[in-house]
Amino acid sequence: MMNSRSLLKHISTQAAIVGAGPAGLVLALLLQKEGIDCVVVERQSRAYVESRARAGLIEHQIVELLRKHGFSEGMDLNGVPHTTCEFRHGGRRYMIPYGDHVHASHFVYPQQFIVQDLLQLFISRGGIVFFSHPAVKIEGLESDRAVITCTSSENSVLKVECDFIAGCDGFQGLCRSSIPSTDTKIFSKQYGIGWLAILAEVPSSTKKLVYALHKSGFAGQMPRTSQITRYYLECPPNDQLSNWSDDRIWSELGKRLAVDGDENLIQGPIVEKRVLNMRSVVMEPMQYKRLFLAGDAAHIITPVGAKGMNLAISDADVLANALIHYFRSGDEVLLREYSHVCLPRVWKTQEFSDWMIRLIHSNADSDQNKDKDFSDRLRQVRLERLQQTDTYAKLFAESYVGLKQ
Ligand code: FAD
Ligand code: PHB
Repeated sequence: MMNSRSLLKHISTQAAIVGAGPAGLVLALLLQKEGIDCVVVERQSRAYVESRARAGLIEHQIVELLRKHGFSEGMDLNGVPHTTCEFRHGGRRYMIPYGDHVHASHFVYPQQFIVQDLLQLFISRGGIVFFSHPAVKIEGLESDRAVITCTSSENSVLKVECDFIAGCDGFQGLCRSSIPSTDTKIFSKQYGIGWLAILAEVPSSTKKLVYALHKSGFAGQMPRTSQITRYYLECPPNDQLSNWSDDRIWSELGKRLAVDGDENLIQGPIVEKRVLNMRSVVMEPMQYKRLFLAGDAAHIITPVGAKGMNLAISDADVLANALIHYFRSGDEVLLREYSHVCLPRVWKTQEFSDWMIRLIHSNADSDQNKDKDFSDRLRQVRLERLQQTDTYAKLFAESYVGLKQ
């Protein structure tokens, strides 16, 4: 129901979703499919969210989830399945056919395409998204109905009254900060490592995901589409972009990715660069009264294992089931269990990411007496075991490809 006065709009719905990222949109579609009334409010414009290039690797179980619900058309048409990755270290290549160990595959399909597909589906089925409407206030979490206040660029105010709020607004969003600090515990870890994340309009030199462990630091080559490649270069966490000219980037990538002689890198326009700080944060519990956090709003994870978007979609699935159950039966049991269901997976994934950080960086320990040569030997043994020991490789493959555990 919508009352429109001059500058104030008032809406009433069952579930209000803050944020049109992967978590918010998967949740919106799952609720919509079951006839649960919901709206999405989003701070940015549609054009902005549809072009925000971030993740690219979709886990096996998320691929299955998107397929099960009929959200995978674009991914099935344009995504690329991956079953082998390559590590480079000490002049050697280590091919890891992880897909063979677990009979499963990853999909490479850029996050902005997933967001485009999900938005298009939700809106074409009658779903409402208020773009350019940042949520600025949350009230009534302890009462029968909660209210979100959003502003808009036209100076109007939107009030959304609802039974439940899904906080899918990312790590910098309003929702996580609306939970009293006395009711949550925050776990966090800083690794003291940065990645310069680069997007280049070039095909990658190989179709595989490449992790190069070099004396000068890690370098990654992650294909996105036939014409776009994401590169990563390890750097200090507070490094300045002004230190990274395009020439320096290509020269550093060439050096760190080289194995036997020069890396055959195809150079071209660099269209985006930013410094990412390797850190992880988990909030427990992920809910407070009528507010449920999903995805980056509840936890962030370093990009090392490519897990953030996958965790976000997995939370959305759990939350959708809990809300659907409640609206069908009036039974709150799954809502009460929400955090307990999500957190074990979040922590298993954090553990994997922590292991992988140590595998691909020689200075990931907080130990002040870092001995890079010692770490380097350990990294070599880990890579050899990944190639030679089936059980070790299988354990890696299960976590890396993302099997339901
Ligand atoms: P977001 O995608 O951040 O969406 C939150 C939305 O909420 C945004 O649209 C935001 O505009 C909106 N919002 C914020 N505040 C408000 C407000 N007050 N009111 C209304 N709306 C608001 N993950 C992977 O799984 N695989 C990868 O390969 C991978 N690679 C990455 C590479 C890079 C360079 C980066 C930066 C991240 C990568 N990630 C990866 C992480 C992944 O992108 C995030 O974990 C994922 O976007 C989280 O989804 P989300 O829906 O929780 O949050
Ligand atoms: C990415 O595609 O950005 C990516 C892929 C694999 C990783 C990390 C990042 O391990």
